[in-house]
Amino acid sequence: MEMPFDLVIFGGFGDLSRKKLLPALYAGFVAGHLPPDTRIYLTSRKPLTETVPSFLQTVFDETIPACPVEVDTLNAFARQVIPIALDLSKAGDDWTGLQATLSVDHTRPLVHFLAVPPRVFTSTTDLLGQYALNTARARIVLEKPLGHDRESARAINDAVAKSFTEEQTFRIDHYLGKEAVQNLLALRFSNILFEELWNKNIVDHVQITIAEDQGVKGRAEFYEGIGAMRDMVQSHLLQLLCLVSMEAPATLDAASIREEKLKVLRCLKPLSGSDIDDNVVRGQYAAGAIKGQAVGAYTEDLRLEAPSRTETFVAIKAHIENWRWAGVPFYLRTGKRMTERFAEIIIQFKCVPHAPQKDWQPDLRPNKFVIRLQPEDHLALRFMVKHHGGVGDKLREVDMNLDENIHDGAVRLGPYLRLILDAAAGNQSLFVHRDEVGMAWQWVDRIVEHWDTDASGPVDYPAGTWGPYEAHDLLARDGRKWYRL
Ligand code: BG6
Repeated sequence: MEMPFDLVIFGGFGDLSRKKLLPALYAGFVAGHLPPDTRIYLTSRKPLTETVPSFLQTVFDETIPACPVEVDTLNAFARQVIPIALDLSKAGDDWTGLQATLSVDHTRPLVHFLAVPPRVFTSTTDLLGQYALNTARARIVLEKPLGHDRESARAINDAVAKSFTEEQTFRIDHYLGKEAVQNLLALRFSNILFEELWNKNIVDHVQITIAEDQGVKGRAEFYEGIGAMRDMVQSHLLQLLCLVSMEAPATLDAASIREEKLKVLRCLKPLSGSDIDDNVVRGQYAAGAIKGQAVGAYTEDLRLEAPSRTETFVAIKAHIENWRWAGVPFYLRTGKRMTERFAEIIIQFKCVPHAPQKDWQPDLRPNKFVIRLQPEDHLALRFMVKHHGGVGDKLREVDMNLDENIHDGAVRLGPYLRLILDAAAGNQSLFVHRDEVGMAWQWVDRIVEHWDTDASGPVDYPAGTWGPYEAHDLLARDGRKWYRL
């Protein structure tokens, strides 16, 4: 168990705090992963008008309804949660009060989590500096989106850097905190078996899918004009791509991992002009049905009067131009209101060069390595075996399931808890360096800028499907198909 720390969530009553941070911290508290005596300060412009337990009860009723919260446990957790009214736009007595409160245990790690819109990042970090809440024990956690393009991200990073050093700055990408993603690193770099297969000689292509069944209801202010490319590709998808394709780092410390991820981003083939039209598909959900329930179109969810050009779906064929991956396509796909919530990485190997038995031919499938992140972790090697006891010599595809070995009964940390604990411990391995953010934006900016000059907008796909026809065609043209459709 690590030492207790003080966590200040700026935007403590906001969406991110309610939906992800508080449930994660509570789960950590219940499982005994949150160091006892850790204090959680929730700042908000308006004071809390109810008791902390009743606020938390409402939050957990909304976010973890399937799992009733036990009253005594909730009350014990609530004793560690302290609401604070604070204006993030200007100095004042409330800031002096926060400074006094946080100086009580001045040797503890102090984690500031900015769960607020990026437009207030700068004023908040300036004030943290002004009130000396940026000393060596302090770390600042920045939630994405970090700007909306390379230039705005640079401006935010520069502004934060006035008060916090790079070693104190923790840019979160919660996908890096997911268990399966960390397992990817462990599997790749602790088994010679995978490393020997992980290259253009043996790998045919890679697919990375992050599908969501949710729409964007209630997130209009954030989503419209941003879209899937900036919201999901620039961060989560490119981070997964880096981890799948990077070289073995010298050690698993932050600097070594970041160095390898940066090399991948540098080798990512920039797309421009007609390459973008040929290799990138953008879509927007129309009305449809999710698990039998009728749902509205994007424009209805956002109550937009005019049509919108914001994409809620993207599929991309990308290439990494280096010795290991030359010629291997990386197909990336993400969307809202797709058939189900599902995230998976598939490494598909090449087919055997020749089937020595004629009967085998129709059933032969290439081997695959499957890393599923959602809805549950699943790791498997998919390969061919003979039909057990069957007549003749037909083949079938089976999963060599690695799950039993991973799910060893240990209570797992959710991504946000894991990342908050890492930030408190000063471990930046699973956080993103400013150079990575900049390079990822540079790649994405070219595509978005091209779209801005293009009169056609995203194509429609019915809610509850795996995206527009054009996304299937992107692979079909190469004689391949998505594994989920
Ligand atoms: C966030 C995006 O970063 O990730 C959201 O801003 C998206 O639009 C979310 O819904 C998905 O996260 P998860 O962990 O639920 O797959």
